[in-house]
Amino acid sequence: MTWSKWIRQFHRWVAIAFTASVVLVTVVVLTQDEPAEWVYLSPLLPLFLLICTGLYLFALPYLTRRRALDTR
Ligand code: HEM
Repeated sequence: MTWSKWIRQFHRWVAIAFTASVVLVTVVVLTQDEPAEWVYLSPLLPLFLLICTGLYLFALPYLTRRRALDTR
């Protein structure tokens, strides 16, 4: 599997983990009086991974086009 395919799959699965963590945090916040602080912060790790891999996926078509045009 190439790097870009691997990163796209990683982005896809982390997106599921991120969505699940947001749902979980919402349920915990609604059901507990004073949830621990890490509960609020837990979606930030998958979000950080999504930003890094997402920016890579965004840049990918521009990078490959530049490489294809570069005939030197
Ligand atoms: C926060 C910064 C994010 C950036 C910069 C970003 C960027 C991107 C880019 C550029 C693509 C490729 C689109 C294409 O090739 O047509 C993509 C795909 C995708 N993104 Fe993100 N994304 C981010 C966050 C998220 C989040 C928060 C979710 C969902 C919770 C998400 C879910 C997905 C999914 C499911 C795909 C399709 C992957 C596939 O199966 O090919 N992304 N994203």
